[in-house]
Amino acid sequence: MSNSVKAQDVYKDAGENVVFITFALKREDQAAERAAIAEFAGRLPSVLNSMRIRCPEAGLKCAFGFSRQGWDYLFPEAARPAELEDFAGMSGNGFEMPGTPADLFLHLRAGRQAVIYEIVDQLSGFVSPAADVLDETQGFRYFEGRAIIGFIDGTEAPNEEDSASYAVIGDEDAEFAGGSYAFAQKWVHDMDFWKGLATEEQERAVGRQKFSDLELDDDAKFPNAHNIAAKTETDGVEQKIVRMNVPFSDLATGETGTYFIGYSRSWLVTKEMLAQMLKLGDYLLHFSQIRTGQLFFIPSRTLLDELADPA
Ligand code: HEM
Repeated sequence: MSNSVKAQDVYKDAGENVVFITFALKREDQAAERAAIAEFAGRLPSVLNSMRIRCPEAGLKCAFGFSRQGWDYLFPEAARPAELEDFAGMSGNGFEMPGTPADLFLHLRAGRQAVIYEIVDQLSGFVSPAADVLDETQGFRYFEGRAIIGFIDGTEAPNEEDSASYAVIGDEDAEFAGGSYAFAQKWVHDMDFWKGLATEEQERAVGRQKFSDLELDDDAKFPNAHNIAAKTETDGVEQKIVRMNVPFSDLATGETGTYFIGYSRSWLVTKEMLAQMLKLGDYLLHFSQIRTGQLFFIPSRTLLDELADPA
């Protein structure tokens, strides 16, 4: 059985209606919270299966995982995924990528908003004895799969057949094979600033043409174009992660932005991208504020089963 068979939904595609929820464990009664999360992990497969029977056309996808803080609190005596660290934040060039606390992470995608609502309602009943919601961000697929800044998002991400090999841990960390590292980061954009730029300037900032999505020649891009700053290579080989960013917008708070979600086989690849974006002063950073950021380990479905039944 390949790793991808046992993995949660950590690769393609980004989905139509999306929700990202982070939770904080109550940290009042470790044994009770661990039991509640075990119950949750045990119920998860059937809750998802049931919805897939009830509404097959919705293409429900789900990933659930733990931050380093969450893992250490719930499973203090267990081994830990090799690269699971607490994301304490990064900075450079006057830009901040804060690390914000969170213990648990849930990422749902579906073709129907009602499916998202129903699953969140059912699952939160099992999580709520153990944890409180820190942030819920509802995302959506924008026209033609464009980022909210108007450019097609995902063109240089791995295609569907190759995604698993970039997103899913293999034999390099055998105990955690089939898992994935999810980095979640909530960006708010100054949309008035961005919309005020000429299309040609936006294209130089992203590194691609807006309508056709064709890549610009390097000398036509700004030196800190996003697709220069985020592109990392090791020994001449481009590093890739599975990105499934979606836009969000909340009129009440006046916040419109991008919820970045990158799944990787190695967190170090994503981290290197972030470091280079800071180092080169990625154009996107100039008109954005980053609100949250944390790394989560998404266990394989097999490991989730084991967590459900610690015996
Ligand atoms: C949150 C705001 C962001 C937006 C709106 C955004 C949008 C885009 C767009 C439109 C592209 C060009 C099309 C494509 O190849 O997908 C792109 C490329 C890319 N982005 Fe982002 N992105 C964001 C954040 C990030 C972050 C935080 C990372 C890394 C951790 C990242 C990594 C990449 C990579 C690796 C590429 C491909 C570069 C290449 O090889 O051409 N992006 N992004």
